[in-house]
Amino acid sequence: MSDGLIAVIGATGAVGLEVLQILAGRGIDSSRVVAIASERSVGKSVPMGDQSLAIRPLAEGCFANVGTAIFGTDAAISREWCPKAVEAGAVVVDNSSAFRMDPAVPLIVPEVNGDVLRHAHLQSRGPKGLLIANPNCSTIILLMALTPLRDAFGVEHIVLSTYQAVSGAGIAAMDELRAQAQSVLDGVPAAPVVFKEPCAFNVFSHDSAMNVTTGLNGEEQKIIDETRKIWQDSAVRVSPTCVRVPVLRAHTQAITARLKSPATLEEVRRVLAAAPGVRIVDDRLQNSFPTPLKAAGRDEILIGRTRCDPGEPFDDSGRTRSFSLLICGDQLRKGAALNAVQIADELGCLQLARR
Ligand SMILES: NC(=O)c1ccc[n+]([C@@H]2O[C@H](COP(=O)([O-])OP(=O)(O)OC[C@H]3O[C@@H](n4cnc5c(N)ncnc54)[C@H](OP(=O)(O)O)[C@@H]3O)[C@@H](O)[C@H]2O)c1
Repeated sequence: MSDGLIAVIGATGAVGLEVLQILAGRGIDSSRVVAIASERSVGKSVPMGDQSLAIRPLAEGCFANVGTAIFGTDAAISREWCPKAVEAGAVVVDNSSAFRMDPAVPLIVPEVNGDVLRHAHLQSRGPKGLLIANPNCSTIILLMALTPLRDAFGVEHIVLSTYQAVSGAGIAAMDELRAQAQSVLDGVPAAPVVFKEPCAFNVFSHDSAMNVTTGLNGEEQKIIDETRKIWQDSAVRVSPTCVRVPVLRAHTQAITARLKSPATLEEVRRVLAAAPGVRIVDDRLQNSFPTPLKAAGRDEILIGRTRCDPGEPFDDSGRTRSFSLLICGDQLRKGAALNAVQIADELGCLQLARR
């Protein structure tokens, strides 16, 4: 259990604002929460439930009396400031990519590898705190749907295409989509700032850095690397294509998973229906399936269009090894803020701050 205050760093951002709302929803007393952002935001306040918190600056000494620190800052800021929070004795959950692939830092989705959090060295800490990394939002959403299939049948190859909301690039990207949509409707050409391409009425290859040798962008490489780390499976094959779509929040993924053991569609559906943190939205008669609007603001990952892959043969028992799914998840909630709060909660960090 951790006492002390709960600091949310990056509290004015898309992830930080969501963290504050989730903490409020879990009954956390706002007087136990410190909202931190850049010097630029000092003088502003941010909502937490029906309260508001004045922004404090990220500055030396700001982690005094902080027992838990949830970072929603970019990787450069996290790289510099997370170790300072750990040094001050805080349990730190970082949403950035800064520490995800560090072998000494656990990379956690509680429903997938939460058992790691129960290891003795994480539960019994010395005077220094500890650091846990939150995975990339697309990785979290993918593994929420596929881990139950992996546990039941094994997974050897994942092919996925993402349709990612602009809010994955932060609060400024949401403002850009709203403003561009309005200007295009007004007959004024869109003027991109956050993204290189116009985001309104457009679809484009993910805006993360392109590796000119592999042809993979940063988002695709993260999904590959993080899936292998979280599953502790360096052999699993992952073939992603990541694309940005003009959606405000919630990512969509079209997935085909090749299993190690064959299964029937009914067996796959039964496993998915019993999985934690997911909701089945799969009505073939009504042609009603997951959409980002249905997923936005929800904690669960929506799963539908579950079907046998027509490109894969059936065996004599009517089983096949390849299945396709369409899933949607709110990447600001389960893909970031909710996952981080769950980690802190599982480590016992929120108990003393509950009203
Ligand atoms: N958005 C998502 O869906 C998502 C999902 C998973 C992971 N992540 C990761 O989560 C992190 C935050 O993403 P976001 O989308 O919330 O970004 P964002 O909306 O752009 O927010 C960034 C936050 O960082 C703060 N910040 C910037 N410079 C700072 C400085 N010098 N000192 C202190 N604070 C500073 C900003 O404060 P000011 O307002 O004062 O500038 C703001 O609160 C990123 O690492 C991102 O990759 C995001």
